[in-house]
Amino acid sequence: MGLLLRSLAMLFIVICFSCLPDVSAQSSGGSARGLDALLQDYAYRAFVHPKTGVIYNGSVPLNLTGIQIAAMRLRSGSLYRRGVNMYKEFEIPKGVTEKPYVERLVLVYQNLGNWSMVYYPLQGYSYLAPLIGLLAYDAGNLSAKNLPELDIRASGDPIMIKFQDVKPTPAGTVAECVLFDLNGSVNFSNVESGNMCSAVQQGHFSIAVKSIAPSPAPVSPSPTPAGESPNVAPVPSGRRKKKSNSKVWIIVGSVLGGLALLTLLSFLVLWGKKYRERKNLQRMERAADVGEALQMTSVGDARAPAATFTRTQPTIETEYVP
Ligand SMILES: *[C@@H]1O[C@H](CO)[C@@H](O)[C@H](O)[C@H]1NC(C)=O
Ligand SMILES: *[C@@H]1O[C@H](CO)[C@@H](O)[C@H](O)[C@H]1NC(C)=O
Ligand SMILES: *[C@@H]1O[C@H](CO)[C@@H](O)[C@H](O)[C@H]1NC(C)=O
Ligand SMILES: *[C@@H]1O[C@H](CO)[C@@H](O)[C@H](O)[C@H]1NC(C)=O
Ligand SMILES: *[C@@H]1O[C@H](CO)[C@@H](O)[C@H](O)[C@H]1NC(C)=O
Ligand SMILES: *[C@@H]1O[C@H](CO)[C@@H](O)[C@H](O)[C@H]1NC(C)=O
Repeated sequence: MGLLLRSLAMLFIVICFSCLPDVSAQSSGGSARGLDALLQDYAYRAFVHPKTGVIYNGSVPLNLTGIQIAAMRLRSGSLYRRGVNMYKEFEIPKGVTEKPYVERLVLVYQNLGNWSMVYYPLQGYSYLAPLIGLLAYDAGNLSAKNLPELDIRASGDPIMIKFQDVKPTPAGTVAECVLFDLNGSVNFSNVESGNMCSAVQQGHFSIAVKSIAPSPAPVSPSPTPAGESPNVAPVPSGRRKKKSNSKVWIIVGSVLGGLALLTLLSFLVLWGKKYRERKNLQRMERAADVGEALQMTSVGDARAPAATFTRTQPTIETEYVP
């Protein structure tokens, strides 16, 4: 019984370990949120007696060189009635509301530049434009850190994003708008007019194409051995549904595998026990025959039988000194 419990505990541990990769995936999403918090702080530092509706470029710490930030303070009434004609790549229409309501808010702009892939890796895709972000915060305290984002929504026309330097779309691929919401989930939508995307909420945006896989070979009857197919585009990490589906399968698989292993282990242990009992019996019988159990012992280079309780230790003759 104790053994069964121990095996069950082991199975439990195995299942827990199978959940670990997902935990680490979430913590990498956490680093993007950590970046949002850091950039909010640095963007707010650009404000010295800020005028409303004016773009203030911020500067980032040296370890994040390549990222551009800006901040703009607005009265929420003005945002709702008039929108913002052009804020970097963003065209914000009228009708944008925030929750919870604040009197003034700050729109923080981020352009992650060459850090896009670091903070927002999208497996199986490559970005044609740097990832840009738009996040809304309360403007009540301009020296506040770790502010929660306000939930802004475009109630009428969507927010338009006009990407500036979009790399040409590689032949045979289709460019797609990518939207990461603040929870890290990804949506794809069509690119409009070659370089525009629309959104109804804040988040991080870019244009991406599926990475070209030179050997798609899905019709080929001969299966490529696993581990030898670096060209196959992996499942996009953002497709949460697929991921959680495969997680379910991993768990089901490990439970079934664990049970099979457990059964096998039990048989092995039972068999081992039987075997040992039989061996013990045989040894006892032999011991009864010989009178004393003999064990093999190394003496110099030779192996010799030795009694468990010897009065004289066996030695090699040449070494023998009387
Ligand atoms: C802010 O940065 C952008 C891009 O680097 C630049 O075009 C713009 O002139 C800057 N604005 C100010 C006020 O410095
Ligand atoms: C970059 O530097 C800032 C300020 O020194 C620090 O708070 C932050 O954790 C650093 N970030 C990274 C990604 O190293
Ligand atoms: C991005 O470019 C800057 C220089 O422009 C460099 O210092 C930084 O290390 C680069 N970041 C990454 C993630 O490569
Ligand atoms: C603003 O935030 C800073 C940093 O969190 C805090 O020290 C300060 O007391 C706050 N000021 C007000 C008026 O709440
Ligand atoms: C993603 O798309 C679905 C379906 O179009 C929509 O219901 C959902 O709100 C979108 N999520 C985001 C973050 O835009
Ligand atoms: C993120 O998740 C929280 C809790 O699950 C939810 O309340 C919130 O609306 C989500 N935010 C977005 C932008 O989807």
